[in-house]
Amino acid sequence: QAAGRGNPRLGFTPVAPNNDDVVTVPEGYEHNVIIRWGDPVLPDAPEFDFENQTAEAQEKQFGFNSDYVAVLPIDEDRALLWANHEYTNENTMFAGYTDGNSADLEQIKVSMAAHGGSVVEIERVRGTGAWRAVTEGERPYNRRITMSTPMQFSGPAAGHELLRTEASPEGVEVSGMNNNCAGGTTPWGTILSGEENFNQYFVGGEAAPDDAKAALKRYGIAVEGDTREDNRRFDRAQERFDLSKHVNEANRFGWIVEIDPFDPTSTPRKRTMLGRFKHEGATTRLTRDRRVAVYMGDDERFEYIYKFVSDGKYRPGSARHNATLLDSGTLYVGRLTGNSPAEEIDGSGELPSDGEFDGAGEWIPLCNASESFVEGFTVAEVLIHTRLAADAAGATKMDRPEDFEPNPVTGKVYCALTNNTARTPEQADEPNPRAANKFGHILEITERRNDAGATTFGWQVPIVCGDPEDPSTYFAGFDKSKVSPISCPDNVAFDRHGNLWIATDGAPGTIDSADALHAVPMHGRYRGELKTFATVPVEAECCGPFIYEDNRTVFIAPQHPGEDGTVEAPTSTWPDDSPFPRPSVVSIWRTDGGEVGS
Ligand code: FEO
Ligand code: CA
Ligand code: CA
Ligand code: CA
Repeated sequence: QAAGRGNPRLGFTPVAPNNDDVVTVPEGYEHNVIIRWGDPVLPDAPEFDFENQTAEAQEKQFGFNSDYVAVLPIDEDRALLWANHEYTNENTMFAGYTDGNSADLEQIKVSMAAHGGSVVEIERVRGTGAWRAVTEGERPYNRRITMSTPMQFSGPAAGHELLRTEASPEGVEVSGMNNNCAGGTTPWGTILSGEENFNQYFVGGEAAPDDAKAALKRYGIAVEGDTREDNRRFDRAQERFDLSKHVNEANRFGWIVEIDPFDPTSTPRKRTMLGRFKHEGATTRLTRDRRVAVYMGDDERFEYIYKFVSDGKYRPGSARHNATLLDSGTLYVGRLTGNSPAEEIDGSGELPSDGEFDGAGEWIPLCNASESFVEGFTVAEVLIHTRLAADAAGATKMDRPEDFEPNPVTGKVYCALTNNTARTPEQADEPNPRAANKFGHILEITERRNDAGATTFGWQVPIVCGDPEDPSTYFAGFDKSKVSPISCPDNVAFDRHGNLWIATDGAPGTIDSADALHAVPMHGRYRGELKTFATVPVEAECCGPFIYEDNRTVFIAPQHPGEDGTVEAPTSTWPDDSPFPRPSVVSIWRTDGGEVGS
């Protein structure tokens, strides 16, 4: 229900940069903590007991480090909260923790159970925009998804020999999901959750068969030296994480997982048609003829942006049909070309003479369900070794593509490119125009005829992040004396007026202020007027964000508060006065009951 085009403007007074160990919101707003790491999710879950935490308890309690957050209405005042639990900070979870080699096995199992995701029934606090977790009664939807939840592969690569292991001889079943970062929802009410840095959980790459090493390496899995240093050592609890014994296990992570939060008995599906990489967002948009497009980033330096377009059309109310849509279609990778002379793009961030970093792009097809378009790759190989196929297709290397989101007012699609300090001036190009890109930028895609099914598009870089006093920054031409600093854009969301909400991960180390949630109109007279809406606690990254459908609540998930501390010497104690930090999900609302942001 997008509002009209007009000139949306943000009415709040920006939050000033700070390094406070709290969530700070603008004047006229309040916030509360909905649920914390360790809080009961399943009705029979025990209360959190920090000093005696067990895997059995954690399997029923809210997981660690929430990243993607979605809130799906049940009725007027009740909803389902979905949260991805991306990863664990053992140094703040367990007293005396040093590393995975010396951790006791129960701690490793707690960590495994703290990964995955949660479905939690929440209710609105009457008369406000606040929400709280329902803690009484049946709560039939509540569910924990962990490393041990049975899942299935679907789509063209399901059953392929590269997905077969001793525990899964048919290559169809898989146990759990891992490092789920950003995500999205589908028009039929399911969650898409992206497995990101799955590479870090494996050991034994050095002893993997030689013919597997090139692909392992391309996905960031160490194939030389001792890989047991700085590893959580999940292989000590489950041997499948040792690639010297189970080399294909690595191929079973790095997927988009589709989960039906309204059916707690449903089996999550790893949708192979959407490719395998370090998945961030998976944002859906319908094409003009009502097929489903999914935009996806691969978050690593010099990686690519992707789009999937289904063969079948979305049919409202037809759950069985819609559950097949992500198994058949075309997977594309992005190639972007600038329209300014190459010599005008010198890596300084200075605008070229036509006044914009902009140009044209094409979606290069990699494969569909039955045919590969990349020489030397079968369909299953394109899908399992997507990075290698995209290399061969000549895609454009981007500055760490994170989350995607379409603007509900204009249809333009946005991607957060978080940073890339490794880009040299020679490697600077118009879509990634700044060398040693510490602060990141935003990419805006305008599909041909505004059709998500198009294979060509125009693009622009409307925001080049940083301290606005830095000459290499750009805020869509808006007066830079009136905008807030922003660094390392990561997760993004839109409100119904076409304001882009940008959560950051990396501000403390780059602009010496807490990570934050910012908002900025993306069309009309105030395009580029970026303001800081909230800041998060010490050493936390601001995840979420999610704007509820009535525009009256913003949900955020500050993750890894106090990540540089230990239980003995904590650097954050948010959100409680307990001696240790607890990653949590927060709602923020306007005290006068009005729409957030406006
Ligand atoms: Fe988990 Fe790319 O952030
Ligand atoms: Ca240009
Ligand atoms: Ca991210
Ligand atoms: Ca991140």
